[in-house]
Amino acid sequence: MRPPVAVQSVQKGAGRMVLGYKGSVISIRDFDRDGILRVLSTAAHMEAEDHYGLLEGRILGTMFLEPSTRTRLSFASAMMKLGGKVLDLGDPELTSFKKGESLSDAIRIVAGYCDVIALRHPWEGAARLAAEIAGRPVINAGDGANQHPTQTFLDLYTIRKVRGQIDGLTVGFVGDLKYGRTVHSLVTALTRFDCRQVFVSPPNLAVPSGLLRELEESGVSYEQSDDLAGVLPELDILYSTRIQQERFPDIIEYERVKGAYRIDRALLESCVVKDSLRIMHPLPRVDELSPDLDDTPYAVYFEQARNGVPVRQALLAMVLGKA
Ligand code: NCD
Repeated sequence: MRPPVAVQSVQKGAGRMVLGYKGSVISIRDFDRDGILRVLSTAAHMEAEDHYGLLEGRILGTMFLEPSTRTRLSFASAMMKLGGKVLDLGDPELTSFKKGESLSDAIRIVAGYCDVIALRHPWEGAARLAAEIAGRPVINAGDGANQHPTQTFLDLYTIRKVRGQIDGLTVGFVGDLKYGRTVHSLVTALTRFDCRQVFVSPPNLAVPSGLLRELEESGVSYEQSDDLAGVLPELDILYSTRIQQERFPDIIEYERVKGAYRIDRALLESCVVKDSLRIMHPLPRVDELSPDLDDTPYAVYFEQARNGVPVRQALLAMVLGKA
């Protein structure tokens, strides 16, 4: 039934392969199946061997205008493991954004100080705007509720590692499917593979209709449910997500749904899940994933977070024309 969406991930440009959107990593929609697999195999190389020195003399500029722990630090770790250096904007409250500087001006300035930029910003589309004006590669580290492509590459890398393959799996998503950018990117990425997708959320946090249309147009089989225990026995991967409190326009709406779908050991035992089920989460978790799962074979979310390093090593090396 797929892979249906023929987006060119790899264009020939100036004699070498160009990654993603004009050499930047902005949206997973800019990657077809081959482009995704190329990133995953480069990440596997990065993990298998020491590539120290590959990016020697190169500088990664990190601009995080929203909170981050894993993404920012694993980008920095990846760059350092390749022998490059990191120039971090730091707390945006202490920058000229506070004086009213525009994002475009700030991007132009930071681009003059580094070779590649990783940007996290609350506005959907901020990374694409940055890529248009930076004059060097931009990697989207999350733009509002829109996309988080580097998380998706590490999610796919993790799925392939823990399950051996991506095709043929039933992947369940639970939690905030409306505002969760990691969900949006991964749902699109899985349309490049032969996967069934199951969405579990409260009705007001369901997958946006535009994304469901994309699935339908791609001929992808999916189902929606509000009954987690009912679907759990069918799943190969359960992708749990945090309710994105910061994206709710109305706190009362958040209060109504917070705490929905808590996953713990008792739930898994009560509904007879597959032994091979693996539970993923982009982290941070709040109360949706009980710590009593952490030492079960189902839990792979800490390994998933560690996989951010080789995957970001691969992406940095690729956008800089070194892999
Ligand atoms: C996610 C994000 O920022 O979208 N975190 C991450 O990058 N690992 C998920 C979240 O904040 O809930």
